[in-house]
Amino acid sequence: MTNLLKTKPLDVLMRQASDTGEHSLKRALGPVNLITLGIGAIIGAGIFVLTGQAAAQYAGPGIMLSYVLAGTGCAFAGLCYAEFASMIPIAGSAYTYGYATLGEIFAWIIGWDLILEYAFGAATVASGWSSTLVAFLQDYGINLPPQICDVPGAKWSMVDGRWAPDLTLSMEQMTRATQHTTTIFNFMAFFAIIAVTTLLIVGIKESANFNTTVVFVKLIAVIVFIIVAGMYVIKQPDVAHANWAVFLPKNTGSFGSYGWSGVLRGAGVVFFAYIGFDAVSTAAQEAKNPQKDMPLGILGSLVICTVLYLVVSGLLTATVHYSRLNIGAPVSLAIRETGVKWGSYVVNAGALAGLSTVMLVMLLGQSRVFYSMAHDGLLWKWAGDIHPKFRTPWKSTAVTGILVAFTGSLVPIGDLGQMVSIGTLMAFIIVCAGVWVMRRKRPDVHRPFKTPWMPFVPLMGIIISLGLMLGLNGKTWIRLIVWLIIGLVIYFTYGRHHSLVQKMVPDEGKAGGD
Ligand code: ALA
Repeated sequence: MTNLLKTKPLDVLMRQASDTGEHSLKRALGPVNLITLGIGAIIGAGIFVLTGQAAAQYAGPGIMLSYVLAGTGCAFAGLCYAEFASMIPIAGSAYTYGYATLGEIFAWIIGWDLILEYAFGAATVASGWSSTLVAFLQDYGINLPPQICDVPGAKWSMVDGRWAPDLTLSMEQMTRATQHTTTIFNFMAFFAIIAVTTLLIVGIKESANFNTTVVFVKLIAVIVFIIVAGMYVIKQPDVAHANWAVFLPKNTGSFGSYGWSGVLRGAGVVFFAYIGFDAVSTAAQEAKNPQKDMPLGILGSLVICTVLYLVVSGLLTATVHYSRLNIGAPVSLAIRETGVKWGSYVVNAGALAGLSTVMLVMLLGQSRVFYSMAHDGLLWKWAGDIHPKFRTPWKSTAVTGILVAFTGSLVPIGDLGQMVSIGTLMAFIIVCAGVWVMRRKRPDVHRPFKTPWMPFVPLMGIIISLGLMLGLNGKTWIRLIVWLIIGLVIYFTYGRHHSLVQKMVPDEGKAGGD
């Protein structure tokens, strides 16, 4: 009989991690690649779009506190990821850690749940990329046909010579609209995912090099914003003073609408901006020196992005009053406000570049999780096939890419984004619990990086993640449950019968046995 709590033995994991044959992934990534991989996945729609919207609707300048709260939760989870990634440096991330500690059924649930983070995450960002491209080209007077820039059935209107989704237009702007249309298919999002997928199939080194180059472009955009807005605030202290006169606007009477509950809701929203640092751990099998470089990649990218986020959100709300930030490109508005026109071009270009690397790292993560699951027999064998020349899991990358391309071009961004957050938070909780369980069950295993203050750190990671999950709406919870039920049906009809771990090791009857 199948033991649902069977764990994958650590020595098997270690053997897989040290495999270097032609059917294995290529160890090509150094510490700089890994940190830039993290930054590549982290800085994206969250800072460029969601921060302004969350400040306008929930927290005002207090959005900085939301960033501190969400960042603290991520730091706790990040420390746990770092311990696991250095101890079990193998592709698959939270899925693999779950298999080694909590047992097969949990591993399956995490693997299935990670699809929400990585595949849906890439689809969400593809959708954001398409609208950023529209805005970017409009700065140069080019209007793409809106019919191919949004999900089927969305309404768009032409105002002042620019097409825009009706949802982002004010009543006054709508009265000035000269043309209206209904969109057909988000071809631009589709195209973006297919381009990134092709790059990922061609090679990990090529993908990492593209990522590193583009990460510098987006970092330059963020730094340009910080310098230009910083100078403006220094030169115009009165403006900043007036915009920050009320740092934490008073609650309007309903939960989440400003005040401290607004800071909490804001944290749930800007949490999206941090998602991605954990994706570094999916590339553990492609790192040259994973024991040392994994913690560096995960924690280094998290620290750099947290500092940048705090500074950007502070300057954004100091430059423009928060009430005006509920728009598609808030950071670009703030820079235009300073009078430095070229800054807006740089920021839009940086946002475009930034979003493309987020898609890249998310898709990389997704295909590596599928690769690991296929290797364990829980998914179809072909998903683990490595291309003989490129040494990448090309079949799982291609199938993932096609499915994600359709999802991103057909499903509205709002629905996708919340699913990404709930899926990621659930993975964080399981990883934090896993680190704790492993310390108790296997204190003897060598851990090149050790999470400090046990069990305080994982416990806080669990509590904060759960708190942020509870802040998400009921519809998202129902979708999560339906998603997990579908996953369990697949496990019980396929995975359970093909699991190699069930066949390979004599059943020891309980979790934790290796
Ligand atoms: N952190 C990523 C972003 O903000 C997902 O786009």
